[in-house]
Amino acid sequence: MNVFCSFLPNAMSKSATTPKDSGDSTVTHLDFLKKFKRFNPLESSLGVLAFFFVASLFIACFFYLDYKGFRSRGTTIIDLDFSSSSSSSSSVSVSVSSAPVQFLSQDGDKCDIFDGNWVWDETYPLYHSVNCSFLDQGFRCSENGRPDTFYTKWRWQPKDCNLPRFDARNMLEKLRDKRLVFVGDSIGRNQWESLLCMLSSAIANKARVYEVNGNPITKHTGFLAFKFEDFNCTIEYYRSPYLVVQGRPPSGAPDGVRMTLRVDHMDWISHKWRDADVLILNAGHWWNYEKTVKTGCYFQIGEEVKMNMTTEDAFRKSIETVVDWITNEVNINKTYVVFRTYAPVHFRGGDWNTGGGCHLETLPDLGSLPAVSDIHFRTVVDVLSERTNKSKVLNLDLLNVTQMSIRRRDGHASIYYIGPDSTASMQRQDCSHWCLPGVPDSWNEILYALLLKREDIFERRQNTTKISQVPP
Ligand SMILES: *[C@@H]1O[C@H](CO)[C@@H](O)[C@H](O)[C@H]1NC(C)=O
Ligand SMILES: *[C@@H]1O[C@H](CO)[C@@H](O)[C@H](O)[C@H]1NC(C)=O
Ligand SMILES: *[C@@H]1O[C@H](CO)[C@@H](O)[C@H](O)[C@H]1NC(C)=O
Ligand SMILES: *[C@@H]1O[C@H](CO)[C@@H](O)[C@H](O)[C@H]1NC(C)=O
Ligand SMILES: *[C@@H]1O[C@H](CO)[C@@H](O)[C@H](O)[C@H]1NC(C)=O
Ligand SMILES: *[C@@H]1O[C@H](CO)[C@@H](O)[C@H](O)[C@H]1NC(C)=O
Ligand SMILES: *[C@@H]1O[C@H](CO)[C@@H](O)[C@H](O)[C@H]1NC(C)=O
Repeated sequence: MNVFCSFLPNAMSKSATTPKDSGDSTVTHLDFLKKFKRFNPLESSLGVLAFFFVASLFIACFFYLDYKGFRSRGTTIIDLDFSSSSSSSSSVSVSVSSAPVQFLSQDGDKCDIFDGNWVWDETYPLYHSVNCSFLDQGFRCSENGRPDTFYTKWRWQPKDCNLPRFDARNMLEKLRDKRLVFVGDSIGRNQWESLLCMLSSAIANKARVYEVNGNPITKHTGFLAFKFEDFNCTIEYYRSPYLVVQGRPPSGAPDGVRMTLRVDHMDWISHKWRDADVLILNAGHWWNYEKTVKTGCYFQIGEEVKMNMTTEDAFRKSIETVVDWITNEVNINKTYVVFRTYAPVHFRGGDWNTGGGCHLETLPDLGSLPAVSDIHFRTVVDVLSERTNKSKVLNLDLLNVTQMSIRRRDGHASIYYIGPDSTASMQRQDCSHWCLPGVPDSWNEILYALLLKREDIFERRQNTTKISQVPP
């Protein structure tokens, strides 16, 4: 089997330009990808052909091996490991490991589903944006003129187990008579719209999915709730980029204080989220100097405006407030709380307002990456681990998407965030939000897996209880 596949790297090197590596005779997958990207426009059509040729060989190889694996009574799986993490020159290693562990099985309990790789999957995407009316224009990259569709084809594959295949009908069944609520910034809306498309793909009559107040989806609305009539469930979005109260400063505040963020006080509308059955929180993108202190929005604790408080300290305080709120206000028997970690941005050569960009990125970063250094990610992880004891009781899971999404610099809207009839300026690219279908779909697939897993564990506990109650 391995012999069959081992010619692939060579095939790749032939289809690519002159191999410059001398030490290693086999040109690796990543090298190939790099060369592929270096093609000039004239060569690129040739490159695309070559890419598809190699890709189909690759996939054929996969199926061949899969078939063989299946024939040997499912005891082997093929682990297409793009990022053999030990060395920087990653290679396509086709290794045969022991029986696949399903995340939902008991053996999957120990599996870290956030540790893994992006793998090419021809069966993706899970939906098409033209067939989903719930997306706002900014996420419809292909319809807005993005020429490549590779970014829709990557599936997240955990290293040590397999995720369940997303099943919209099954998820809706689990959510029957329930409310699933997203709260946070516009990246939260990005994820919410993704889930609407994923779920509505199972609904033939789209008229049976509607906004409860008849409001259209726009980025300016603070609250939107879509009802899936056949399942009596709502999928809601509340805009609250800071999660805490933003408002007028207290009387007697120093000059220059136009607004304050009360980092010790949960957003006034939090009572509307509190009783959700599933609550997915996120924050981070608005916690920076430019969006706060620079605009005259300072931080407040009690009645005091903390003129010197840094954004980092204020963010930490706000996360503590969120955790306290979950501990004290949320009924842990009813509400399953998920905190989605920071979604990385990929501006290169500047920031969002200084001409930074990410267009021309067409492939994920499949190599190994350094540990996440992002302050928003670390703060959330720190606060939660400081309160490990409490967070057990908290009933809270981390949707730990930061690391996996760092690899997806190809997934952003870049210049394809406005309608097909106009063109965005190269100087104003969107490397924060994600194209849909795309990366947030994978976050939602993991969310789906977590929901099923919880149910599974709950059932298992109940069964154990039942057994132990049986008199001898
Ligand atoms: C998040 O995921 C990354 C990548 O798998 C892992 O290294 C890290 O330990 C995880 N962090 C937490 C807090 O789960
Ligand atoms: C959109 O849906 C229609 C009807 O179900 C289907 O025929 C068409 O192929 C879909 N378009 C895409 C791009 O999937
Ligand atoms: C629909 O779900 C809500 C809870 O979200 C519940 O109170 C209500 O009774 C359900 N309606 C029907 C008709 O089952
Ligand atoms: C806060 O800043 C002011 C003015 O820069 C300074 O005088 C004061 O000492 C600072 N206070 C603290 C607690 O750092
Ligand atoms: C949650 O359930 C446990 C056990 O059934 C019960 O003791 C506890 O009071 C419940 N908590 C709330 C907030 O309802
Ligand atoms: C958890 O709580 C127990 C008892 O309350 C304490 O002994 C232990 O040190 C705590 N662990 C952590 C990680 O805080
Ligand atoms: C628990 O028991 C029920 C039947 O009582 C069964 O359908 C279910 O599969 C069991 N769950 C597990 C995890 O064993």
